[in-house]
Amino acid sequence: MVEKLSKNFFLYLSKNKILNKGAKRWGLKLGAAQVVAGVTVDSVIKVVKVLNKKGLVCTVDHLGEFVLNRDEAKQSMKVCIETLEAMSATGVNCNLSLKLTQLGLDIDRQLCIDHMKAILDAAKKTNNFVRIDMEDYSHYHQTLEILAELRQTYDNVGTVLQAYLHSGKKDLESLRGVPLRLVKGAYKESPKVAYQNKEKIDENYLEMIKQHLLTGSHTAIATHDHRIIEKVKRFCKKWNIPKSQFEFQMLYGFRTELQEQIAKEGYTMRVYVPFGHDWYGYFMRRLAERPQNVSFALKGLFSK
Ligand code: FDA
Repeated sequence: MVEKLSKNFFLYLSKNKILNKGAKRWGLKLGAAQVVAGVTVDSVIKVVKVLNKKGLVCTVDHLGEFVLNRDEAKQSMKVCIETLEAMSATGVNCNLSLKLTQLGLDIDRQLCIDHMKAILDAAKKTNNFVRIDMEDYSHYHQTLEILAELRQTYDNVGTVLQAYLHSGKKDLESLRGVPLRLVKGAYKESPKVAYQNKEKIDENYLEMIKQHLLTGSHTAIATHDHRIIEKVKRFCKKWNIPKSQFEFQMLYGFRTELQEQIAKEGYTMRVYVPFGHDWYGYFMRRLAERPQNVSFALKGLFSK
């Protein structure tokens, strides 16, 4: 009960535009620095280098979402390209994750597509891959449609499917061969479209992972749930699914020992490393997921 209230509270806060705007000016506060790798491209590259040395590969996310201003959307596109160039120049093992609302999806669909094409061209030049994060349900169908449009020209782009959605398994069928990250789902959604029961979400999640793996498609299993991870390892061994066909992913700052252990076992372990001024919504969703994460915020209140 308390867990549910706290989840709803932080998900509500994550959408608060005034706090979000203020947070961009505060700098990394409330302990966000433990899970966000600074605000500049240089700072995130430094973190990626350290993680690479530990045998972990990365995906970097320049934080930003729900942008309603053309200049801001264009600036986000530029930072994404700058980040890809910095990855190539420094030779780090890392790709890029981004959100379509950061690139102007809520302003003008074509503007967003044009920004995506510029980013994918830059990624192609440096032989890199771009993952479109999946946002809340109001952007779900547009994201899948834009992905389909982009994949007519680009093969270096994929997206994310959320297992809490009722339509998850059905939508997965039409994404055979597309590199997908599978997650449980991070947003507050209506019971009309999303399962609310944790056990049901876990069950659907595992089924979706198996379904995508068995089609031979590249699958990123993005979870901190050790039970799911163990089940996936066993499943892949049983069906002789090569380690090159899948990877595990976790967020920067979470379960770091487990991340390193998985990499040592010879699996690809990719760490999602966010950076940038727009950390507020991301951080609030992390607090919503796990009440224990609130300790980050409390520690942060008393440091500096
Ligand atoms: P969950 O929170 O369900 O926890 C299950 C169990 O795992 C817990 O009961 C506990 O035993 C253990 N556990 C979890 N966290 C732990 C910790 N920190 N320490 C110790 N034990 C822990 N969502 C989305 O909607 N769109 C997206 O694009 C993405 N992208 C994305 C990328 C990556 C790399 C990750 C890891 C996650 C996302 N997500 C996401 C978020 C995702 O949907 C989900 O909200 C979170 O990962 C939380 O769910 P988990 O599967 O990690 O475990």
